[in-house]
Amino acid sequence: MIIALDGPAASGKGTLSKKLASEFGLPYLDTGLLYRAVGYQALQQNIQSDALYDLEKIAEKIELEAIDHTELRSSEVAQMASKIASIPQVREALVKAQRNFANQAKGAILDGRDIGTVIAPQANYKFYITASPEVRAERRHKDLVKSNEAISFDDVLKDIKERDARDQNRKTAPAKQAEDAHLIDTTNLCIEEAYSAVMSIINET
Ligand code: DC
Repeated sequence: MIIALDGPAASGKGTLSKKLASEFGLPYLDTGLLYRAVGYQALQQNIQSDALYDLEKIAEKIELEAIDHTELRSSEVAQMASKIASIPQVREALVKAQRNFANQAKGAILDGRDIGTVIAPQANYKFYITASPEVRAERRHKDLVKSNEAISFDDVLKDIKERDARDQNRKTAPAKQAEDAHLIDTTNLCIEEAYSAVMSIINET
């Protein structure tokens, strides 16, 4: 069984994916980590977001198992990840690892922006998880404050809107709802309510 969850930042897709992974005993991949890992290394090495060749080389060397999560949650890394994610060569370099993960014998849950459209269009269940930018910014702001990043709500909202626009309007694999994906709007739902909505779709289909 493959379950694909796509959607914008802080829509709740990560939390839902983890709950589903534990419910069904499936391996889970947060594909945003791959793009964040490339963005992080680019920042560390002072590589600009338009240095296509260098960024492609970084992406080619990323190994799923070796990703160190610690430095990847900051808003600076998120913005860089969104920038480098618009480069076709970078995306291409990261496709294989994601498809291998999706197609493992045990089945898998993946979340990201293009799982249901590009990485695993054959997924058994597809969801597009979204929420208003303001509610998503509130959630992300709370997380960032918890991890000691000094950033205002307004800056988080601006970042989220910028990232949405870039991710949705890029030419290659833009973030969008697959035609056969179920839309779950979590603006007015707590995580348990969103999870119930997802589970009832899975149980009904
Ligand atoms: O899910 P996230 O916020 O960690 O993702 C960071 C950035 O990575 C996001 O702004 C766009 C990019 N991304 C992508 O283009 N495709 C994916 N499948 C996952 C993430």
